[in-house]
Order: sequence, then C-alpha cells, then structure tokens
Amino acid sequence: MSQRPAILVARAIFPEVLERLRQHFEVSDNPNDDDWSPQELCERLQGKAGVLTTGAQRIDTALLQACPQLRIVANMAVGYNNFDVAAMAAAGVVGTNTPDVLTETTADFGFALLLAAARRMAESEHFLRAGRWDRWAYDMFAGQDVHGSTLGILGMGRIGQGIARRGAHGFGMRVIYHNRSRLDAATEAECRATWVSKDDLLRQADHLVLVLPYTPQSHHVIGAAELALMKPTATLVNIARGGIVDDAALAQALRERRIAAAGLDVFEGEPRVHPDLLTVPNVVLTPHIASATRATRLAMANLAADNLIGFFTQGRALTPVTP
Ligand code: GLV
Repeated sequence: MSQRPAILVARAIFPEVLERLRQHFEVSDNPNDDDWSPQELCERLQGKAGVLTTGAQRIDTALLQACPQLRIVANMAVGYNNFDVAAMAAAGVVGTNTPDVLTETTADFGFALLLAAARRMAESEHFLRAGRWDRWAYDMFAGQDVHGSTLGILGMGRIGQGIARRGAHGFGMRVIYHNRSRLDAATEAECRATWVSKDDLLRQADHLVLVLPYTPQSHHVIGAAELALMKPTATLVNIARGGIVDDAALAQALRERRIAAAGLDVFEGEPRVHPDLLTVPNVVLTPHIASATRATRLAMANLAADNLIGFFTQGRALTPVTP
C-alpha cells in the first residue's frame, strides 16, 4: 500500500494538472464537474489531507471540524473569500491562492469591460443582431470617451496596478485610486496614479474599476449612496467579487441613467444574476471569466498543484494566505 497523501480535486481541472498531482498523491477527482453541496464536499473530504478548490467551496469551522485530517486547501483563484482564514489558522490548516499568474490577463479583461461599457458595445451588438440597424444616425450609440479621461481604481493591488498602467500609458488617462494603504512613491510614479479619498474617487472618476478583495468591510461598498456621488456620464466596472456592489441599487441607477453604463464580471449570489440587471440595456454582463485565457487558467491550476506538492514534499506551500 502506498503512503502517498490522499487529496481531493473538488472540480474538473486540466487533465495534465491532474496527471501531475497523481505522480505525488492518491487523487480523488470530480470528472463530471458536479457542483457538490457543502455536505457532499465534506463527505468526499473524509480521510483527505489536501484539497484543490476553485474559490467557490466554503471552508469554514463546520467543514474543518468534520474533516480533521485536512491540512491544506489550495484555491485555484487569487481571491479567497471562501476561506474562513481565522478558523483555518486555528485548526492549523494552510490556505493558498494563485496570485501573480493571473494579474495581466485579469487587468486586460477589466479594461475590455471598461471599453465595452463606455463604448456601448454589448448594447449596440444586440441592436444589430436584432435586425434593427437600418440607417446611420449622428448620435447612435454615442458613448463616453476612454482616452484622456479620468480612470478611478478602488483597490490598488497587483491587478489594480495593471489596470492603472494600461490606462495611464496606453490611453493617456489621468489615474486616481483609493486603497487602505497608499502605494510607495516609486509604484505610484510607475502607474502614474494619485491617491485620493473614496469620495473624491467616486466624484471624479469617469470610469471606475473595482478590484478590491471581498471582506465583511467591503460588502456593498458601492451602494445607492456611492452611486449617487458618481458622474451621470460615469461607467462602473466590477471584476472583483459579487457582493462588493449592491446589484439592485446598481440596476436602478443604470435604469434611471444616474450613471451611464456598467461592466460586470461578478455578481452577488452568482451564478444567479439579479433579474433587474438582465433587463437594463446599459450594462455588459460576463460570467466571471476575467482570468479565463487557457494559458492563465493552466498557470493557476499548476500553481494550486505546486502549493499542494510543495506543502507535502518540502513542508512549504508557495503562496500561503493563512498566517
Ligand atoms: C477569480 O475570481 C479569482 O479570484 O481568481
């Protein structure tokens, strides 16, 4: 009998990554890519020392108590709001995420959503597909300029900085940001970004991109009051997490044209989407795909696997998020 650690891979992933894991571990996987309930995840985790998760599986006290053999949870995601970090630390369970490998791809997508929202690409494409385009008109789908405008960024980690660089260097934008901690002067200079208060950010941004982690403190950080501070010509982009924006308040602001447009890749309670968002025209909606290029998703899966392999073979995870 082999002494190799037993691990669970909670969702379907690249076969080549599963193959790498099988060289080190007894691997149970999820070939049908079922979305297991917390109860079923718990059952499948019995006797497992590690698990590769995708960011959707909640790791909390109840699960940790029910799975005492568990020693590491490797998220294939940079966000880890599915972890109760304090409970994991108390139980001596290591949590890891996948930073860096997705930064540029995700920043690209944030910018794509910004452009699509500001230039009304989804709305105009639906119009064309519906066979409603019968003539040119001087104001047809006239949107907002991106070049030379003011780019606001809420949350200025690696992805926020990637978006700032794209805006400043590629589109000649003035970049302002708000973050709990200010960047050092060299990074601010490289991103050509200026720290402002949250209210100034909301008031001054022509295009506001949200790239902050989801925590109890950032729940509904953009709600009716914040939307009311924004310019009526502004666009809002959320590539961070559902729950950071009050989706019902946003749908109402979009419908009443209190802001011009939005681009959303993440939703409160996804994969459900607030029904009001589905009926307003001035929003571009994508199904949580900001990191979804093949190369980046493969790098994320490999980094999650490397965390498991490093932890069990060298006693050290590469990118831990637990203390
Ligand atoms: C995706 O949302 C991630 O956190 O990587």
